[in-house]
Amino acid sequence: MTNKMKIGVFDSGLGGLLITKAIRDRLPEHDIVYYGDTLNVPYGNRSEQAVYEHTKAAMDFLFSKNCALIIMACNTANASALRKIQQQYLPKAYPDRRVLGVIVPTLETAHEKKHTRIGLLATHNLVSSAVYEEELHKINPDIELFAQSCPLLVPLIENDGLKWITPILEEYLEPLKKNNVQSIILGCTHYPLLTNHLKASLRDTDIELISQDKIVPDKLADYLERHPEMEERLSKTGSTEFLVSDLTQAYIKTAKQIYGTDIPLQKAHD
Ligand code: DGL
Repeated sequence: MTNKMKIGVFDSGLGGLLITKAIRDRLPEHDIVYYGDTLNVPYGNRSEQAVYEHTKAAMDFLFSKNCALIIMACNTANASALRKIQQQYLPKAYPDRRVLGVIVPTLETAHEKKHTRIGLLATHNLVSSAVYEEELHKINPDIELFAQSCPLLVPLIENDGLKWITPILEEYLEPLKKNNVQSIILGCTHYPLLTNHLKASLRDTDIELISQDKIVPDKLADYLERHPEMEERLSKTGSTEFLVSDLTQAYIKTAKQIYGTDIPLQKAHD
C-alpha cells in the first residue's frame, strides 16, 4: 500500500507561507499542503466563535487533502481554537490525526533564553485571549509578559502596504521599550516579514527578536523523531501544494513577496 499522508500547514492568510518555507527547508522530503484562508483574513479582529468555526473548517479541509498532521501556524487560531480542536474535535472526528500549535514551542524557546521580561507583538484577538500569559505562567510564573496588540499590521502586510509600516510599528514598540523587555516574540505568522523594519526600530536597544519561522521547523522535526508512528505514515516525495480559499492577482503578488519565489497558488474550493 502506498503511503500518501501529508503535513498540513494552516494560516488565516498568506503570512504562514514564511513558516512553510522554513519547514520545506528543514524537511525537504516530506509532502506539504499549505492552506491560507484568504477569504476570511484577517482573523485578528473577529470574534472567538468566528475564528473557531473558520479554523475547524480549515482543519476539515486539510484532513480531506489527506494530511495526517497539521501545524496550526496562525497564532490567533491557536488562541481561539487549538485546545478545543485537540481535546474535543479530534478525538471524536479524527482520532488518528494530530494538530500541533505554535504558542507553547515559542514560549519554550523564549524561556530557554532566561529572559525575565518578555514582550509580545500580536493581533488584537490574541492579546485579549491572554493565552500567551496563561501558557507562559505554566512554564515559569516569574516571567513577566508585556503584550502589545497590533491591529494594523496584518491588513497592511496582506495589502502590499509595507511602505506605511514604520511609524505604526514604532508606536507599537514604544510601550515594550519603556517596559525594558529583553526579547520580543513575533506572535503572528506575518510579523517575521517585518524583521528588517523591527531591527531598524530597535537598533538602539539589545532587544532580541523571537521568530516562529526559526523555531517551529525544528520543533516539528523533533516531534517526528519522537513519534515514529506518525513519521512512518507520511509520504516523502518533496511536494508542496499552496492552496487558498480566495485567489486574486494581489494575493499571487503578495505570496511571491512572502515566499521569495513564484509559487503555484491555487484556489482550494471550486
Ligand atoms: N496569521 C495570524 C496569526 O498568526 C494573524 C493574521 C490575522 O489577523 O488573520 O495570528
